[in-house]
Amino acid sequence: MVSAAAKYDLVIHMKLKANIGLLVFLLAVAAFAANEPTIIPQPQKMVVKDGVFELTPKTKITYAGGEAEAKLLAEKLCESTGFKLPVAPISSLPGQCEILLLLKPDKLETLGNEGYELSVTQKFATITAPTTAGLFYGAQTLLQLLPPEIFATNKVSGVKWEIPCVEITDSPRFPWRGLMLDVSRHFFTKQEVEKLLAVMALHKLNVFHWHLVDDGGWRIEIKKYPKLTSVGAWRDGVGFGLDTNSTTAYGPDGRYGGFYTQDDIREVVAYAAARHITIVPEIEMPGHALAALAAYPEFGTGFGPFCVPLKGGVNRGIYSPANEQTFQFLDDVLTEVAQLFPGKYIHIGGDEVPKAPWKNDAACQSLMKREGLKNEEELQSWFICRVEKMVNAKGKTLLGWSEILQGGLAQNATVMDWIGGGYEAASRGHDVVMSPKTHCYLDFYQSRNRAAEPHAIGGFLPLQTVNAFEPIPAKLAPEFHQHILGAQGNIWTEYIANMKHLEYMAFPRLAALAEVTWSPKETRNYDDFLRRLKTHEQRLDQLGVNYRKFTLGDGTDATPVKPEAKPKTKSISSQ
Ligand code: ACM
Repeated sequence: MVSAAAKYDLVIHMKLKANIGLLVFLLAVAAFAANEPTIIPQPQKMVVKDGVFELTPKTKITYAGGEAEAKLLAEKLCESTGFKLPVAPISSLPGQCEILLLLKPDKLETLGNEGYELSVTQKFATITAPTTAGLFYGAQTLLQLLPPEIFATNKVSGVKWEIPCVEITDSPRFPWRGLMLDVSRHFFTKQEVEKLLAVMALHKLNVFHWHLVDDGGWRIEIKKYPKLTSVGAWRDGVGFGLDTNSTTAYGPDGRYGGFYTQDDIREVVAYAAARHITIVPEIEMPGHALAALAAYPEFGTGFGPFCVPLKGGVNRGIYSPANEQTFQFLDDVLTEVAQLFPGKYIHIGGDEVPKAPWKNDAACQSLMKREGLKNEEELQSWFICRVEKMVNAKGKTLLGWSEILQGGLAQNATVMDWIGGGYEAASRGHDVVMSPKTHCYLDFYQSRNRAAEPHAIGGFLPLQTVNAFEPIPAKLAPEFHQHILGAQGNIWTEYIANMKHLEYMAFPRLAALAEVTWSPKETRNYDDFLRRLKTHEQRLDQLGVNYRKFTLGDGTDATPVKPEAKPKTKSISSQ
């Protein structure tokens, strides 16, 4: 018989044991979490094993396929470690510790176009993939398994370059993982664009949508129409109410602007291709054409003087569909654009076209009668369908913003949804890229406390909302899911005049979006993203990339505070 006191002792003892057990368990979880790799975007499957692979000056990089990827990896490793690792085809460098890149096309069925396997043991770090893109992404993961200092742009000493032993199988959820940059409202140099591309690649993003043309400036050299850049690339001042010192993009005559020569474009396209990023050029039409029409007013209708900031904020400069020469001009421009960009898509804009100029123009009205077009929306659709034929004739696919659905969607067009239309287009069998204002506009405020942030265009897009984004519209029937190609973040630059400011708006939100587009939906976990973000911030520090530090708070917890009365000059300094 057990006494009551003994029973009590037993219960206490059991409770104590359970508590110690719980404590041990929690400590083990904490230790595991501390050692758990911090890869962004989170890989599909990862098993962490005991032991490490140590990178030393004796490590060799060998490849069977993927020579360019192996060399790029060696270059990156050399910057921070100072190790000049030999790179050679497999078997010509028998060695003790090797990083291997193995191209295995027969893995296509299991890993897909961009997937890879990464196996790290104490002696070998082996990346296997069916494509060179997969090898490249495997190498990006390998870099993130190393200490954050690996991303330093100069040699660092005193770091143990260890990679934990892991088995990773990974492939992206979506084929379109994008970022759009508006270089029209504010100009960013070729070097700045390349820096952005390098950071995109680290996040396994693969589409750079280059918004080259808008009311604020024409940024791409077109040989047949030199005034597009000699006139259209420049304006009197930085505009948008910003300080003159918020930017350094001034020409020798003190005017604001700049453009890319065709050689610049070829260089950037090659730089992106080496990082498995496709560039989608955007040539805005029929609206947002003020810069083009400042140079060639004969192709426009109903526009005012070329001025910055735009008078009244309305983009009145639109192309005239009633002038046949407008189409010749656009065809010539698109011919040069198609030759410069090897990708599948040309983005023709199509958004926010004010219809009043066409309504008030006799030639446009008689064209509508002749073609049996009931309203200006149908005229817009007629315009875009003509442009689609040109684009298709150059072997490209037309991509346009939500509004290209107005008045009837062009036959083969792909839609970029910013204000809806994605569901409708995908259910009709069109491909769609999701880029809704609600989740993807990286020019919006990151905190409710606007007063603590640089002036932004408006809106509110905290990190948590980006993390919660689901690109597939809820109502979309499963058989149409494959038409949702993926998603992209958009950086409009009305109030973003320099690189430091641009990076602050992009990061860490773009890292969250990379995870939305790459990682399986089931593994999405905001707390775990924040855990990994701590290390990721150190990577960005090493890369010299500015970002909104998480110690500033989540943005959702802030009390709403409006900025002060004269807010627009409150930008991040260009210095
Ligand atoms: C857009 O934001 N006007 C596409």
